[in-house]
Amino acid sequence: MTVETTPSREPQDAHKPVRSGDAHLRIVGAAGLDRILRPLHRWVWSDARRRGEKLLKFAQTEADGGRDIARAAERTHDALLRRLYLRHALDEQRHANLFRTRGRAILREVGQKREDGDATFDGNFFSPGERGLDDLQVDEESEGSLLAFLHLSEKAAARRFAVYQEVLEVDPVTRDVFVDVLKDEAFHMNYTLSQLKRVEPKKAGWRLWWARLTRLWKGYLRIASAIANVMGGIVLAVQYFVILPIFALMAKRSAKKELPGWAPARDGGERSLRSQY
Ligand SMILES: [Fe+2]
Ligand SMILES: [Fe+2]
Repeated sequence: MTVETTPSREPQDAHKPVRSGDAHLRIVGAAGLDRILRPLHRWVWSDARRRGEKLLKFAQTEADGGRDIARAAERTHDALLRRLYLRHALDEQRHANLFRTRGRAILREVGQKREDGDATFDGNFFSPGERGLDDLQVDEESEGSLLAFLHLSEKAAARRFAVYQEVLEVDPVTRDVFVDVLKDEAFHMNYTLSQLKRVEPKKAGWRLWWARLTRLWKGYLRIASAIANVMGGIVLAVQYFVILPIFALMAKRSAKKELPGWAPARDGGERSLRSQY
């Protein structure tokens, strides 16, 4: 797979030129966990309906991210950053359109969308879209922390999309969409890093480490809430299938001891005006 950056489309001096070969190694050579999980990704993307629905979710994330980055362009006082953010926002909007168009086409091909409640596994936990853009809090970030956060999110997205396009032999049209999107993600990944080094040359490393820790913490919270969900399901199932039948049995037994029909009134009840029985 070859990923090309598009230096000619960037504003002058936006970042140091990156050779296409370097970009390829930086993205694909370090894909880590996603490369190990490639068979799982292949399985997730093999189902046409799941593929269509995942692409529609990806489109939402990209569109939301595009809006947030447009907001970042409004906030910044740096003219070069504003131009880059605007270009970035337009790219994310274009990705949203590409994913939405392809997702709808797939769902049209496979027939109606599934019925409500007819849930299937979508694998979004380990094969998400441009994760990170959905966590973006533009108004709460400084210029440096926003660039560090964007850099890590774009890098993770580029790695993931590189793996997705590799496992999509089954659907060459969708694979081409990812190849197209991946070029932009490589550009986003590179410009955010070079701009971080320009805006905060001394703090760039620290910003990246802090952004990494924040992402790790958010990842931990995602895993913890997923585990809590599973545990909650198990506890409810145990209650329903083990504890509830015991109480049902006890209620049945005590019901047998009850006398059928009317129960006799207690002795002397008729003499008391304050008592019903
Ligand atoms: Fe994107
Ligand atoms: Fe991006």
